[in-house]
Amino acid sequence: MAEGAPTVVIRGGHVVGPPASRRADVVLEAGRVVAVEADVAVPAGATVLDAGGCLVAPGLVDLHTHLRQPGHEEAETIESGARAAALGGFSAVMAMPNTDPPIDCAADAEEVLTLGRDVACEVLVAGAITLGRRGEELAPMRELAAMGIRLFTDDGAGVQSGAVMRRALEYGRGLGVTLAQHCEDASLAAGGVMHDGEWSSRLGLPGMPAAAEEAMLARDLALVRQTGATMHFLHLSTKGSVALLAAARAEGLAVTAEVTPHHLALLDAAVEGYDPVFRVNPPLRSASDAEALSRALAEGIIDAIATDHAPHPPEAKDLPFDQAPPGMLGLETALGVALGALEGVLSPEEVLARMSFAPGAIARVGPADRPAACAQGGPLVPGAAGHLCVVDPAATWTPDASRSASKSRNSPFTGTTLRGRVRHTLYRGVPVVIDAEAQR
Ligand code: DOR
Repeated sequence: MAEGAPTVVIRGGHVVGPPASRRADVVLEAGRVVAVEADVAVPAGATVLDAGGCLVAPGLVDLHTHLRQPGHEEAETIESGARAAALGGFSAVMAMPNTDPPIDCAADAEEVLTLGRDVACEVLVAGAITLGRRGEELAPMRELAAMGIRLFTDDGAGVQSGAVMRRALEYGRGLGVTLAQHCEDASLAAGGVMHDGEWSSRLGLPGMPAAAEEAMLARDLALVRQTGATMHFLHLSTKGSVALLAAARAEGLAVTAEVTPHHLALLDAAVEGYDPVFRVNPPLRSASDAEALSRALAEGIIDAIATDHAPHPPEAKDLPFDQAPPGMLGLETALGVALGALEGVLSPEEVLARMSFAPGAIARVGPADRPAACAQGGPLVPGAAGHLCVVDPAATWTPDASRSASKSRNSPFTGTTLRGRVRHTLYRGVPVVIDAEAQR
């Protein structure tokens, strides 16, 4: 795509650092950033995109996206998910392996990578930790790592056996890859459909206790200490998890973590009307959990914001609350929801950093791991890849299901007012979103 990339000037925005944030125009040529300077002369024939009043940030990187292909193309395809991602300002997404079949061998990973080659953002692949995500035998991690896969997870479920997880960490350490855990002790969570607390009692729904997450997190931290492996914790949701993680970081363990916009913005009380759109794993938690997560993000205990974009088509999701599958859409609304939830806690620039630089480093696609010309997650300097988003932090908008790029409709934010909108997204130097409209 870069060969055909036009010359583009992003004019009049405020470029998010590092290096230092500054007012500057950004010029892109042949797929790369060639200049970041105030008041550039527009080259003849260039496409000019207005960034007045906007922040110009590296393309966002989502560590946690369910693209559903292969196996559930009625919910999402790699193409539709990538378009939704671009509308949300993302230039890269990490496809989770809980597809059908799961991504637990080179051929399945290759299929997703091939389908992701010519879509609106880069599609990275996470491999399964265990064969069939059954939690028993390890997947061929060496073969997958040889293809460039750097993150492994059985997401959708946690690896229940401590012995299997220990082996995966030891093996992963040797391969130099990161193991990512969905922390959920299945025996503690069994039967639960929402957070175990005051609201589950009131609503008469079975609860999933915070301990189901914290018990597995505590176990895995002990295993990281023992093995010296690198581990990432997916969608952490409780105050207790934050405390465990803070202690692990103070000790110097090689761990990172993410939080979703919905766990920052929504509480278990939202389940009051039994609307299945609010059913998600881990479940929406209490106000003190959400506050602890926001603080942890501000203090750097949690590194990154990730969507856990989980499309489910209406025929699957529109069921009584306790029968509906867990999961909600996230890509198109993530930035607006995060900006709203973190207002007064983090500046818009800091929110953007936690959606670009931080996840790029965890996914190992940032400049420390890739040549600048194809790195994801910034920084926006001459020579960098032409992945960026232009965000109007003051724009208010109402997500509208009929305008969503996703094939599914299960967003709890449809019809709400969000503040902060992606105006343009560029991928490999090509505008894939202009004025909040997908171009491909
Ligand atoms: O709510 C969720 N939905 N949480 C997960 O971990 C998996 C996801 C899905 O795949 O639908």
